[in-house]
Amino acid sequence: MTKIDPTELSPDDWDELNFPRPEENEFDRVVERAISRRGFLGGVLAFGSGAAAMGAGLMSSTSAQAQNASRFAFTPIAAQTDNTVHVPEGYNWKVLARWGDPLFSDADGYDITGGGPVEKSDLIFGENTDGMETFGYNGRQLIAINHEYPNRKINLPKLRAGTPGSADEVKKLQNIQGVTVMEITETPEGWAVVKDSPFNRRIHHNTPMKIVGPAAGHDLLKTEADPTGTTSLGTMNNCGAGKTPWGTYLTCEENFNGYFGSSDETASYDQKVADGFGRYGVKAESWNGYELFDPRFDTSKHPNEPHRAGWIVEIDPTKPDSTPVKHTGLGRFKHENAAATVAPDGRVVVYMGDDERGEFLYKFVSTNPYQPGGPTEGLLNDGQLYVAKFNDDQTGEWVALTPDATGMDAAEIAIFTRTAASKVGATTMDRPEWVAISPVAAEAYCCLTNNKNRGVKPNAGGDDTSVNGPNPRETNHYGQIVRWRPANDDHAADGFDWDLYVMAGNPTVHSDAYAGSPNVNEGNLFNSPDGMQIDTTGLVWIQTDGNDDNEGDFAGNGNNQMLVGDPVTGEIVRFLTGPSGSEVTGLTWSDDLRTMFVGIQHPGGTWPDGEGLPRSSIIAIKRDDNGILG
Ligand code: FEO
Ligand code: CA
Ligand code: CA
Ligand code: CA
Repeated sequence: MTKIDPTELSPDDWDELNFPRPEENEFDRVVERAISRRGFLGGVLAFGSGAAAMGAGLMSSTSAQAQNASRFAFTPIAAQTDNTVHVPEGYNWKVLARWGDPLFSDADGYDITGGGPVEKSDLIFGENTDGMETFGYNGRQLIAINHEYPNRKINLPKLRAGTPGSADEVKKLQNIQGVTVMEITETPEGWAVVKDSPFNRRIHHNTPMKIVGPAAGHDLLKTEADPTGTTSLGTMNNCGAGKTPWGTYLTCEENFNGYFGSSDETASYDQKVADGFGRYGVKAESWNGYELFDPRFDTSKHPNEPHRAGWIVEIDPTKPDSTPVKHTGLGRFKHENAAATVAPDGRVVVYMGDDERGEFLYKFVSTNPYQPGGPTEGLLNDGQLYVAKFNDDQTGEWVALTPDATGMDAAEIAIFTRTAASKVGATTMDRPEWVAISPVAAEAYCCLTNNKNRGVKPNAGGDDTSVNGPNPRETNHYGQIVRWRPANDDHAADGFDWDLYVMAGNPTVHSDAYAGSPNVNEGNLFNSPDGMQIDTTGLVWIQTDGNDDNEGDFAGNGNNQMLVGDPVTGEIVRFLTGPSGSEVTGLTWSDDLRTMFVGIQHPGGTWPDGEGLPRSSIIAIKRDDNGILG
């Protein structure tokens, strides 16, 4: 067996290998026998209504497709396996910013290959771009961009094989993650970063934050450095993003657990802390070795530090001196993104996925309505957190996580949200990634990226993960997108109807449920939908983070990619392919909608420069005729 090099693993892959999970038990063996006896299809057929639900939604879509002309203004492109970006004819792309590009003149000459002084490492554009949003402000174009995690193998001296060897090296890793806020401008040569703009800012693992909401000040959030439990340092593993109705940025802390370790494997913890570590995957061994040189990340010394991560953080890109705010009202889990909207009565609704096998989909509804120009401080904390329960008959309900329903107090519901959701019997999902809300129809979508544990083993809370309505396939390695329509067209309502917008699969390899839904065909093969945005016209842009071997079950998929779907006809076509080895993640538009910004994370080879190091980058895509793009 090939030995896996842990320094080449993303935090998610690391979790996959290390997350504490129940040993194989009789349940596992029964499922395995069932699978080998009936074939994989057995589970899906046995469930029945899930496949029916998918069929009902999509058959009407495909018949509509036959009657309607395509809404896409381009000729879809073929799958690719090379080491660059492809877009359709009539479109062009250019790099806007690469990891290591200076945001300030002070950082000029900083050399990502040679390292450079640690104190300059937070003056550059960070690594591994992910979610992002644009902000128009006084005629300026600002953009906020997440930097999810570092590729330690290329960030640190090769000799140590990716393990930090000093406090400075830890600091450097900490500095190249987090969030970049920067001003950009369109020049005759294309989009460029405005170096030294007063809005340019790096927010990283040591940036002071405020903690607000129901868990602020709770004992479980207090540390030696912060006995009040209301301030913390830094935001980490910033995955997807969102934008509030009042124009601030929401950055989402995903695989925070891997940043904490223990120098004392025998350390013992209070039962609540230990249970939380178990449910969230905080272990003695960290993913990145921070605890070796930064005691804050050593749980044997500071057991409450992990409770100060796993939140959604609000940043005001227009106020470079503002302190980012961690909103505990939005719950603590492996936050993917935050899709916010305003309900008909003015209340703020935020949909959020917890990206872990068998975890849940959440919604927050504010108590008070949002009033444009009015105060917004309490809106993301004073409200009710709900978790989704999907019924097999294509209906569903949002179950309120209240003290009555969970037996937990409000602060504990915020800190151990997963446990609260398990207590109310929420529906275990196939790794909820991005949620997107349509601006033209009362509906929302969530990418369920894949789940090899579906029907195989329970989640870390012991919840059953047998196939269910929106997650109808055992050992699901292709993923699907669930769509729901809230009752009365009101995203604040308790009830909803749902269907599957698409089930990824491969009809060239399978003829059962793993072939995918009818709107998957040889021309648009993809797997593991992850990033998603819906443009102003209602088209659904889908980005992938999947298997790019282009072999076997994934033959014909090519590299990771971005597709676009018409929610009315069900048609899905390929718009962009990324360089080999990369994930395509993060999508937003310039204020004039004539540029689309797309993130390329962890490219392989030496993209985009063709020499030196591979650099995750943001690209700007335009039509050759400068037309509107969404
Ligand atoms: Fe960072 Fe779930 O993607
Ligand atoms: Ca993602
Ligand atoms: Ca993913
Ligand atoms: Ca990723």
